[in-house]
Amino acid sequence: MKKIILTGDRPTGRLHVGHFVGSLRRRVELQNSGEFDKIFVMIADAQALTDNADNPEKVRQNVIEVALDYLSAGLDPEKTTIFIQSQVPELCELAFYYMNLVTVSRVQRNPTVKTEIKMRNFEQSIPVGFFCYPVSQASDITAFKATTVPAGEDQAPMIELTREIVNRFNNTYGPTLVEPEILLPDNAVCMRLPGTDGKAKMSKSLGNCIYLSDTPKELKKKVNSMYTDPEHLTIDSPGHLEGNCPFIYLDAFSNDSHFAKYLPDYPNLQALKDHYTRGGLGDGTVKKLLINVLEETLAPIRERRKQFEQDIPAVYEILRKGSEEARAVAAQTLAEVRAAMKINYFDDAALIAEQAKKYSSNK
Ligand code: TRP
Repeated sequence: MKKIILTGDRPTGRLHVGHFVGSLRRRVELQNSGEFDKIFVMIADAQALTDNADNPEKVRQNVIEVALDYLSAGLDPEKTTIFIQSQVPELCELAFYYMNLVTVSRVQRNPTVKTEIKMRNFEQSIPVGFFCYPVSQASDITAFKATTVPAGEDQAPMIELTREIVNRFNNTYGPTLVEPEILLPDNAVCMRLPGTDGKAKMSKSLGNCIYLSDTPKELKKKVNSMYTDPEHLTIDSPGHLEGNCPFIYLDAFSNDSHFAKYLPDYPNLQALKDHYTRGGLGDGTVKKLLINVLEETLAPIRERRKQFEQDIPAVYEILRKGSEEARAVAAQTLAEVRAAMKINYFDDAALIAEQAKKYSSNK
C-alpha cells in the first residue's frame, strides 16, 4: 500500500515555535526522508471559519502567513502538495455523507471539541458547522487516502473518529476508504510546548508565543521575560526545573553541539540542569544559551521567509497549483465514494440497463 501523508493547520495566526517543534520540523524531515509516496499539507481555512465565521478577513490574511511559514520552514512544493482546503469543494461533499455515519453523542465525547467549546464560550449555542468539524476533518484525511497524519496529541480524537468513519463506511458500502494512523511528535516535550509565560499552551490570545517570523530583537525580549522558577531568588539557591520555560525549550531545541559552541563549560543539557538544581547557576546564563540556540534554528527560516516575501504572487501560484492537484485526487476518491454509495446514477450503465429491463415487460 502507498504511504501517504495528510496534515494541516487552521490559518488563524502566524505559526509559532510550538508549531515548529510539534509538527512543522517533523513534516520537513518526513518530506525529505523519501519514505512517502505523496505528502499533502493543507491550510484549513474552511475549518478556521467554523469558529471565525464573523471574521473572514482574519482567515484570509493568515492563509498567506501560514503559507510563508511553511515554505520558510522548508516545505518544498516540488515534494509536498500545499493546498487550501476551501479550494477543494469535494471535501464538503464527503463530509456530508460521513455525517450519516456519526452520532451527535459521539462528537460530544470528543475531548478536544469539549475544550474548544469551553474556550470559545460556545456552551449555550454551538454553531453546527463547528460541531461538525471533526467529521469534516475525516474528509480531509480520507479524500487523500492518507495512511499517516503527523499531528499533536490534541488531534488524536479526530484521527480516532476518522478510523471509525472509515470502518463504518467500508462495512456498509464496501471497501473504499483507507484507515489512517496518527504520527505523534517523537519527543515528549515537543507534544505541547508551553507559552513563554509557563502557561500550558502557546496561544495567540494569551500573547505568550514566539513566532517563526519574530525578529532577533523580539526573540531576545521574549526569552528574557520567560517564566522560570519563582523560588529561584538568588543565583546560589537551588533551582527547580518543573515548569521552567527556558529548560523546557532547551529540551525541545538544543543538542550537544550547541553546548560545544555556546556554553562549552557544560558537555550537555543534563550537566546544565544538574548545576541549576544544585544551585549556583543563574537564569541569565540559561536564557542566553536559549537565545543562541533559537537564533541558530530560526535565522535560516527568517531569511527564507524574506525571500518568499519578495514574490507573493509566486506563493499564491504555489497554492493554486497545489489546490488543483489536491482537487484531482479528492475528486477520484469522491467518485469511488459515490459509486460505493450507489449515487453515481449517470456513470452506471448497469443501473440504467437494469431499470430499463424492469420496465420493459410493462410495454
Ligand atoms: N484541526 C487541525 C488544527 O486545528 C487542522 C486540520 C484540519 C487537520 N484538517 C486536518 C490536521 C486533517 C490534520 C489532518 O490545526
